[in-house]
Amino acid sequence: MKYFFYLFSAVVLLAAFVSCKGNKDASGPIAVVPNPVSVEYGGRGVKIPSGATMPRLYESVDKKLATEEYILDTRRGRVKIRGGSDTAVFWGRQTLLQIIAQVREQGGNWIPGVLIHDKPAFAYRGAHLDCCRHFFTVDEVKEFIDMIALHKINVFHWHLTEDQGWRAEIKQYPRLTEVGSVRAETLVGHYGSKEYDGTPYGGFYTQDEMRDVVAYAAERFVTVIPEIEMPGHASAALASYPELGCRGADYPYKVQTTWGIFPEVFCAGNPETVTFLEKVFDEICDIFPSEYIHIGGDEAPREEWEKCPKCQALMKEKGFTREAELQSYLVTTIEQYLAGKGRKIIGWDEILDGGVSQSATVMSWRGAKGGIAAAKMGNDVVMTPNIYFYLDYYQTSDPQGNEEPLAIGGCLPLRKCYSFDPFDQLDDSEKTHIKGIQANIWTEYIATFDKVQHMALPRLAALAEVAWSNGNRTEYDDFVDRIVRSLLPIYDERGYNYAPYAFKDIE
Ligand code: ACM
Ligand code: ZN
Repeated sequence: MKYFFYLFSAVVLLAAFVSCKGNKDASGPIAVVPNPVSVEYGGRGVKIPSGATMPRLYESVDKKLATEEYILDTRRGRVKIRGGSDTAVFWGRQTLLQIIAQVREQGGNWIPGVLIHDKPAFAYRGAHLDCCRHFFTVDEVKEFIDMIALHKINVFHWHLTEDQGWRAEIKQYPRLTEVGSVRAETLVGHYGSKEYDGTPYGGFYTQDEMRDVVAYAAERFVTVIPEIEMPGHASAALASYPELGCRGADYPYKVQTTWGIFPEVFCAGNPETVTFLEKVFDEICDIFPSEYIHIGGDEAPREEWEKCPKCQALMKEKGFTREAELQSYLVTTIEQYLAGKGRKIIGWDEILDGGVSQSATVMSWRGAKGGIAAAKMGNDVVMTPNIYFYLDYYQTSDPQGNEEPLAIGGCLPLRKCYSFDPFDQLDDSEKTHIKGIQANIWTEYIATFDKVQHMALPRLAALAEVAWSNGNRTEYDDFVDRIVRSLLPIYDERGYNYAPYAFKDIE
């Protein structure tokens, strides 16, 4: 009988080790965002040594796994992360951070025994930050990169030029930053307001600073894609070099002080425009090693081209019948130039206007329709539809009641971000052209980095989960529960400012 008792006790103990009851601290299953491909419970887990933030890691690269695929194993008393590359191992570490955060949140020090397997649905998982409407310091930009890396987002799309400020030092064109980086004042309140603050506003990144950001991002397996806008959103460039605009060298172009779309665009008919852009892209390519270079292309009104003798002469010479073909001419000229440097262009969906080459990648922002059309034409696509992924939109349907800070408009609750279907209306071969998805943060109404975080979090988590777990997403409530348990403790610990009302279930 005594022996039977011992045997019984041993079996109970063993069962506790091998089952999820080995999970001594976390209550219930562990929560991870994005939702992994699989999570199996078992084994005794791993103790976090007292005084340490995490246990020792045993990391290795396994060439049988895909580049971003990893396996995290905590079943046998140590943490092992195997990945298809160093990048994959790094993503595994982000998952571990989430598990540790929820263990700590419950006052524990024991990582439950789990075997987690994950790989992303999309290779391109982007987050964009407009550093032109408002300027963010290098340290803030680095913190943004930390934020996106935590969510296993691997592209930082850095919006560097705009009507309201040119932010990238270009040595061959020093006036871009001497003149173009400063606006005389800034609109107060929402578009339509007549009030200005009377205070000059500026800032730019030196080439060394941009290189530093690229290196910082690379350490976190994030690629920085720079965006240089053309042919529109060019007021700051034209204020610096007015001879590049259709109105000519004597026209007093200015760095804009309000928001919107402006008629001042680069003169397509002036060969100097192409020379300028090529030299700018020479320096940009020296700083940014990314395969993709973003050439903008959005919101370029054509009325100046209609009136400009140089643009009209070029149209005649080329046999163009529509001004849209001038846009296409500029885009393809720069695309070929960048191809000579081994780079590919990506541009907003307006680059489809007037025709686009097969090799251009289209960033679909005016809804998904541009991306759907592009994928059906055989072009690669990054989906960033405004109604799902413009994080400058309000987060609830009752911004006033929820005391949301001023936003551009719209209504984009977390649930809506989470509901995006990247493959809507596409057949299997067309789906292969969807390279990924991205969230955009335009900053007309976001003057501080604190507010960037407020708009980004937790909605970036939805972007991340669609990008990693498409086809393997959970019910929305489960997603929210996982954010609350795995990410909020990290946001709190790092001091990230997230939107408190984001979980209110308001459409
Ligand atoms: C854009 O939002 N203008 C791309
Ligand atoms: Zn012109």
